[in-house]
Amino acid sequence: MSALFSEGRLGDLTLDNRIVVSPMCQYSAIDGVAQTWHLVHLGSMMMSGAGLVIAEATAVEATGRGSLGDLGLWNDGQENALTRLVGELRRLSSARIGIQLTHCGRKAATRTIPDRWRGEPLPLEEGAWTPVAPSALAYDEGWQTPEPLSEEDIARIISAFAQSAARAVRAGFDLVEIHGAHGYLMHSFLSPITNLRSDCWGGSLENRNRFAVEVVEAVRKVVPTDRALGFRFNSTDWTAEGSSLEDALALARALEDEGLDYAVMSSGNIRPGIAIPPATPGHQVPFATAIREHTGLAAMAVGMIIDPHRAEEIIASEAADFVALARPMLDNPRWGLHAAAMLGQDIGYPPQYLRARPNNWLGFSHAHPDARPPATALQLDRPRSVAAWDRPDAPVRTGS
Ligand SMILES: Cc1cc2nc3c(=O)[nH]c(=O)nc-3n(C[C@H](O)[C@H](O)[C@H](O)COP(=O)(O)O)c2cc1C
Repeated sequence: MSALFSEGRLGDLTLDNRIVVSPMCQYSAIDGVAQTWHLVHLGSMMMSGAGLVIAEATAVEATGRGSLGDLGLWNDGQENALTRLVGELRRLSSARIGIQLTHCGRKAATRTIPDRWRGEPLPLEEGAWTPVAPSALAYDEGWQTPEPLSEEDIARIISAFAQSAARAVRAGFDLVEIHGAHGYLMHSFLSPITNLRSDCWGGSLENRNRFAVEVVEAVRKVVPTDRALGFRFNSTDWTAEGSSLEDALALARALEDEGLDYAVMSSGNIRPGIAIPPATPGHQVPFATAIREHTGLAAMAVGMIIDPHRAEEIIASEAADFVALARPMLDNPRWGLHAAAMLGQDIGYPPQYLRARPNNWLGFSHAHPDARPPATALQLDRPRSVAAWDRPDAPVRTGS
């Protein structure tokens, strides 16, 4: 029995397996509203064999958008589009569906694709707005200096997170993840590099953590316990001037007290110019292991997890509870189905694709010479993960 394909739990939410599609901005929304691209992209991820698909960083207010193409969830039109999207996605597989909520802070107002490669600021004449942040420090040369947030602004944004989370719950998402990493607003409160405040929102670790704690507290109130609540942590800023793993663990314990269910451990991007070790396969797994060792939260590892055998080892050795994959899923949107064949595990295939399933297709071993499909012929009776197909009008699966 494969550990990777064993059932997992995020709080009270059960997942068919331990594979997660990591949130990936698509820069394809119009006025924050999901488009056909989102259905196609997330739809293909629903058929990847993953147990959970998390939709991209979605802004809780207009000033929090990274670009004009970012998804938003602060008005009814955006909520209605996501409600329809979740309904369509439910028909594709029984993968759980989550959404990541964010405010981009001083990294807001960047160009979108196709003009952008790595977050260039949007010129004012092309519709840029003034970004906000804990302190008036520009992200880099040529970027706008953000407006420092007042007490009222902070209260408004905490409430915006809660309101967007309530919309996400109404839209039918199984899970809400708060983006606390990669130099966006939450992370710029947490890190001493970007938070120079001397009021109760800055200075000591407890003060710098306050914004995250208050957001999670407000969001948990509107996300019932049959839906999971997670937080993407910045495990380290990769410089002694910044936040450390110990800081992230202290925050994780504080957020656990507020009812957080899981932690996904990323790192870096607080400001340009910090030398970070080159990414190697599984390079951030030790951060997830630290979460397992020091908190009661479920731990998700992310970053260059590509080889299914390595993913299996991460779960089997209890280095993490879940593996989240981004680019490997873009590279191979059937990653989970192929991983199952590599690990000798029988999992459900979309009925429309059954003829390409290992042992139904002699070509499979040529397409995937390293795969070791189960010795017995794979079952053609209704696999659990495609049950939604058999009963298209059945109530959608939500909660545990
Ligand atoms: C196209 C793209 C968009 C991304 N958008 C987000 C995002 O919306 N939220 C987030 O937390 N991380 C985002 N990331 C980071 C990934 O979720 C992931 O942490 C990172 O790519 C490392 O995982 P990988 O090696 O499997 O790609 C994005 C990555 C890519 C490639």
